[in-house]
Parts: sequence; structure tokens; C-alpha cells
Amino acid sequence: MAELVIAPSILSADFAHLADELASVSSAEWVHVDVMDGHFVPNLTIGPPVVEAVHRSTDAFIDVHLMIDPVDPYLNAFAAAGADLLSVHVEACTHLDRTLSAIRDLGVQAGVVLNPATPAATVQHVLHRVDLILVMSVNPGFGGQSYIPEVEPKVTELRTMIGDRPIRLEIDGGISVRTAAAAVRAGADTLVAGSAVFGQADRAAAIAALRAAARSA
Ligand code: DX5
Ligand code: ZN
Repeated sequence: MAELVIAPSILSADFAHLADELASVSSAEWVHVDVMDGHFVPNLTIGPPVVEAVHRSTDAFIDVHLMIDPVDPYLNAFAAAGADLLSVHVEACTHLDRTLSAIRDLGVQAGVVLNPATPAATVQHVLHRVDLILVMSVNPGFGGQSYIPEVEPKVTELRTMIGDRPIRLEIDGGISVRTAAAAVRAGADTLVAGSAVFGQADRAAAIAALRAAARSA
């Protein structure tokens, strides 16, 4: 399995001090950016100008989670802003295959996201088009929600489906020192954590604690 990656979600950061907040999580390999449109999910958050600001303020890999519908008209703007990976939801893409190849054509990595209720089989036909599969372990829209352990069998199913393909398997929602081990045991190699990192005063310690919990799996 691939090296463990921790991806702090800036949704739980203090946007008034974003550069400092990003510096505080520099021990994590990735930064996770939650883009919400008030339509696909019941919340509004970040657009391309903030991704561009994140890009200027960190050397971390920028993992952009697009919770927007439609998504196709905005791919170019997020790629130009400095995203390293763009993830799109199965539920928001009528032509998933086409959207994923459009992302790669922009020169960035492509990810596909499944809501808790969406079955693993919905991504079987696009495995050759993705660098990452993201399983939501909450219903997307807000930070700080409770982890849904019932998604774990789907994570395991996707791990088997991925086989030896170079595809990361990410999990997002309610990941903490209490849930990280179970998520990794199920097959996740990339952990998004918002409140479990930015809700702690010592972010380096919070990231180290998540790694230790994941390693105990
Ligand atoms: C939820 C977002 C998550 C969120 C995670 O819709 O996709 O990335 O920031 O927050 P926590 O880790 O607090 O559940
Ligand atoms: Zn997210």
C-alpha cells in the first residue's frame, strides 16, 4: 500500500490568518481545500482566488475537493489557480468519464468522490482515469461531523478494486485519533482531517497523533 498521507482540511482553519494556518500544518504532505456551492451541498466556501492564495502560501500538494454542480465550467479556473489534484463527485457528474479526462487534460491529477450512499461499483469504469478515489465518511457540507463507520466495507471493496493500480484511496469526514486506525484498516492511505488538526492548538502534535493512530492499525 502507498505511504500514508495526512491532508489537513483548511475548512476548519482561521481564514483571517490563512498563511499562518498553512505554515502550522507544514508537517503534513497535503492540504485539502473544500469547495462548496450552496447547491450540491448546503454550504458555501472557497473559490479559485483562495486556491491561488493557498498556492502562494504553501509548498504542500494542493488537494481540491469540488462539491459543486455543475463542475465542468470551473475546472480550468481551479487548475490555473494552482490545484495539484481536482476531485469531482460521482453524484455531480452526468458524464463522469468525460469530466475526469478533462481534468487530466489540464495537467493536474484527477480524483473521484463517493458520498456515503454511493456504491463502489459507480467508479469501476473510470479506474484508468483517476489518481485518487475519495470516500466520504460524512455527508459533505460541514466540518466537525461524526464519522460514519458503515462506509468502511466500501473502502475495503475499493482497495480490492484498485489492486496494484497507482491510485490513492482517501477518506474524508470525522477522521480523528479515534477513527483513523479503523479507516486505515479498511484500506485508506490518505486521511483528510479538518477539526482534528485545526481544532488543536499544537497542529504538529495533532498531525503526529493522527499518524501514530493510523500506524497502530
Ligand atoms: C466535509 C468536507 C471535509 C471536512 C472535514 O464536507 O469535505 O473535508 O472539512 O472536516 P472534519 O475532519 O472536521 O470532519
Ligand atoms: Zn473534503
